[in-house]
Amino acid sequence: MRTAHLAPEDLPRAAEILVSGGLVAFPTETVYGLGADARNDRAVGGVFAAKGRPADNPLIVHVRSAEEAQEIAVLDRRAQALTGRFWPGPLTLVLVARTGVSSVARAGLSTVAVRCPDHPLALALLRMAGCPIAAPSANRSGRPSPTSAPDVFEELDGRIDAVLDGGTCRIGVESTVVDATGEHVTLLRPGGLPREDIEEVAGAVLSPSREPGQPKSPGLRHRHYAPSVPVLVVNPGADAVLRALYDHPAASVLCTVETAAEIASAIPGLRLLTIGRRGDAGTAARRLFGALRELERYRPEAIIAESVAEDAVGLAVMDRLRRAAAASATDH
Ligand code: TXA
Ligand code: MG
Repeated sequence: MRTAHLAPEDLPRAAEILVSGGLVAFPTETVYGLGADARNDRAVGGVFAAKGRPADNPLIVHVRSAEEAQEIAVLDRRAQALTGRFWPGPLTLVLVARTGVSSVARAGLSTVAVRCPDHPLALALLRMAGCPIAAPSANRSGRPSPTSAPDVFEELDGRIDAVLDGGTCRIGVESTVVDATGEHVTLLRPGGLPREDIEEVAGAVLSPSREPGQPKSPGLRHRHYAPSVPVLVVNPGADAVLRALYDHPAASVLCTVETAAEIASAIPGLRLLTIGRRGDAGTAARRLFGALRELERYRPEAIIAESVAEDAVGLAVMDRLRRAAAASATDH
């Protein structure tokens, strides 16, 4: 299959491919998604096949509005308060499903994950296609998520019908996923919307680990976000990075601007990328996946990644780094 590279003005073509059962990657404010008509079992099955995604890991269904979400899921007052405040935006709600979404997309569960993306091209595509769009991140299963059209080609060229190019994603890490079916809202995956913001609307947001009886996200069982070389996460500061480099002299480094200033001159020829200034979690999120991709191309012995503070979107950055590190610890 030849994968078409579509410009924003080719939007009608992208919508046409979707409604006829094809697979189109498209930009959102978080990462690129691999979209299929969420009502179509066969199209949704194609998403799992293209990604190599385990069939027990359900997909997020994208909608153009909270009204459309009401057609496929049950939104109680709390869910309506959350969508009213944060949609369109990087918040995914796991809700009790109504009919209208392929059970393949839901991995057979009685719940469905829904989100309304805050990106003009994604919203225009949803309106033009006129159907909910099931879309996981547009990477091969287990790999870092793509944040640009070239990233999607690197992952899925020849396996999908088209990539709608909307430039680089503004947030850079995936949406925050919460389970809103229980008495309390539970955080299933930290992401682009800080947990603190959700708590302002919905009260305490529980961590699944603190509540053994609470539901877990099926996706958490699987390998995630890992580039093809091992990732080592170290404490903040130049000392920890230098110590790790001593053990792994052929490693590359991903660190803050401040740490880079301290170590770059000490080690000539070191391959290093920065994730912004210390304390700037937004920049760290935006650069994270692209930097992991770029560093892996040099085939270093390992990628040494400096920790960032876990406030706001920094929690999502550290979650992705830890998972990348855990995956490489078991793979290599
Ligand atoms: O930002 C995002 O969320 C991106 C863009 C494309 O919207 N999408 C994305 O999708 O990250 P994906 O498939 O890579 O991650 C979906 C997560 C997985 O961890 C999955 O297990 C969880 O949502 N999920 C989906 N449906 C669920 C359900 N019914 N119950 C619990 N977790 C669910
Ligand atoms: Mg993903």
